[in-house]
Amino acid sequence: MEALTPLIDGGIFAYLNYLVPAKRKEILDILVNGLKRMEYRGYDSAGVGFEGTNTKNGSHELKTIKQKGKVARLQEEIDQTTDLDFEKEYETHIGIAHTRWATHGEPSPTNSHPQRSDTTNEFLVVHNGIITNYKDLKSFLMSKGMEFESETDTEVIVKLVKHISDKHKNSTMSFRELVELTVQQLEGAFSLVFMSSKFPGECVCTRRGSPLVIGVKSKAKLSTDHIPILYSKDHRGFMNPSLHHTDSTTEFHPIGNKEVEYFFASDASAIIEHTNQVIFLEDDDVAAVQNGCLTIHRIKRTLDESTTREVTTIKMEIQQIMKGSYSSFMQKEIFEQPESVVNTMRGRVNFETNQVVLGGIKDFMTEIRRCRRLLFIACGTSYHSAVATRQLMEELTELPVVVELASDFLDRQTPVFRDDVCFFISQSGETADTLMALRYCKQRGALIVGITNTVGSSICRESHCGVHINAGPEIGVASTKAYTSQFISLVMFALVMCEDRISMQNRRKEIIQGLKNLPEQIKNVLKTDEHVHTLAQELYQQKSLLVMGRGYNYATCLEGALKIKELTYMHSEGILAGELKHGPLALVDRAMPVMMVVTRDKVYPKCMNALQQVKARHGNPIVLGNVDDTDTQQQANKYIGVPSTIDCLQGILTIIPMQLLSMHIAQLRGCDVDCPRNLAKSVTVE
Ligand code: UD1
Ligand code: MG
Repeated sequence: MEALTPLIDGGIFAYLNYLVPAKRKEILDILVNGLKRMEYRGYDSAGVGFEGTNTKNGSHELKTIKQKGKVARLQEEIDQTTDLDFEKEYETHIGIAHTRWATHGEPSPTNSHPQRSDTTNEFLVVHNGIITNYKDLKSFLMSKGMEFESETDTEVIVKLVKHISDKHKNSTMSFRELVELTVQQLEGAFSLVFMSSKFPGECVCTRRGSPLVIGVKSKAKLSTDHIPILYSKDHRGFMNPSLHHTDSTTEFHPIGNKEVEYFFASDASAIIEHTNQVIFLEDDDVAAVQNGCLTIHRIKRTLDESTTREVTTIKMEIQQIMKGSYSSFMQKEIFEQPESVVNTMRGRVNFETNQVVLGGIKDFMTEIRRCRRLLFIACGTSYHSAVATRQLMEELTELPVVVELASDFLDRQTPVFRDDVCFFISQSGETADTLMALRYCKQRGALIVGITNTVGSSICRESHCGVHINAGPEIGVASTKAYTSQFISLVMFALVMCEDRISMQNRRKEIIQGLKNLPEQIKNVLKTDEHVHTLAQELYQQKSLLVMGRGYNYATCLEGALKIKELTYMHSEGILAGELKHGPLALVDRAMPVMMVVTRDKVYPKCMNALQQVKARHGNPIVLGNVDDTDTQQQANKYIGVPSTIDCLQGILTIIPMQLLSMHIAQLRGCDVDCPRNLAKSVTVE
């Protein structure tokens, strides 16, 4: 079975019927149902775009229906639409649909997709991903007199298509060529599906860094199981469209041209109930359906790339695909981390020039640099992300850094000053204690910075400025990918704070190169899953688990123990190894399960010392260390190895086996990992 690529944001679904008559009602049902199949991904609004007729002049016209909230709300909105003839039949038709997770502008009908090129809906697009250069494109298009209505990055894409189309009004440029010209201007990650009133019954889609699958359903047997790639001649080929197919040995058999239906989706789970014949697009493929024929084009041909795309037959059960190939949201989110960390850094860290730009706080940097101290205030996992980065923050800013639990901070009525900068970290942006601490500090005149995952949330609105961690929707109640993205966001902030310090340049560069390697290293850590599962089988009947470590890994102990507690209902405690002698060592005996985080950083000798102390009490700890550290491995019966990175980033890699371990123990104990008892995703009460 083709592996499902996990996705960071919402869902795309589109349906094209060619010479297969369908009533509007049927078409809308197919579109809405496609969205329902992807609901497990998380989203905050939904919309559809479809073909119709202008009631005044009878011309071809595109329509959209969009709504905030669940797909069921969109369905209601569609049902309540009075000016639509649901019985009208279309022999050929294209409709597109989308569920959105807000990244630019809060959830609202205007910010939902499809986004449109103008008030006549000449072009519509649905988009997954992030366009990182949308601000430049937006100012360019505004200088050309285009008016924007949404706060999304997506709107620039569809306005750009129109701009290019208007510029080439008198040429015979195809829909596909317009899209090719457009996407060449885009930076970032995307999968896109376009439709246009100028090209009825046609569809163009493309991807870069975000998945897109095409399903084909046809009564006739497909003429080929390999679709040849067509190469656009060169850049001028766009102005003077002449295409050549470079591989003369393969005769070109178009798919389609008779009765055929196409399904386009970001996720095969939305397609499978209609057909199991699918084509997985690759980055920079531009697929187009015209007169029922599907073609796939590429702009440039690189030497060793495949010159065809295979029509794959996928075999999946509907139940199996509802969570992708994952057993729980938590598992899905843990395994998304190689991608979510990339999204956190996207458009912000330049690995060539070693520059870091946080657009959300850029204008406040002068004020932040002048402050007297930095306060990081949060609850739970978010608090641990501040603990994890505190040492680096102190090193790179040379400022006093205070890390506080929001509830305790409020209980103490802690003094706050006008020249303090206060950070509030929260995945949901709605955490009640954190929000109240924010208001408390704001009243006292401090600068308020939010670190949130949820665009449009209370913390986001009430802060003076901030950073969106862009980890994508997190549905599992126990936070996983939000933690690693919060961690990276705080590291990026520290890097911005010291960008002018000459003495810190080498350290900065090392950290930035460390960030660059993280996605690959996280993939490697995830390969320990089987091994961690075995350890979970040894641990799951225990009553308690102590997690010890110090320095940069102390936060991993706290966060690891929190994961164990909340998911498995076992007692677990994160213990600072430096504190062992002051009490916790009394807990250690032959029977007490212990984990120790021991990586090769400055406190390594001290950690080894702690390991000896535990062993001297007949403890038999599982050691979580560097994979290449054979010396340490020899000291431990049970060992989990993670790749080595720079000291201050090591915690991003050591937390992942702890996430996996808590998940496996919970599953072995029969606990619901996505909804632990007594806990809610967003704690909006005190
Ligand atoms: C912005 C876009 C991003 C795009 C990038 C490219 C938004 C939401 N983000 O990201 O998608 O790729 O430009 O130029 O449009 N804010 C708060 N409190 C918070 C979090 C954020 O006030 O807790 C504010 C920021 O100060 C900023 C805005 O929200 O004004 C967007 O923040 P962020 O998404 O982090 O900004 P960029 O990274 O510039
Ligand atoms: Mg987006």
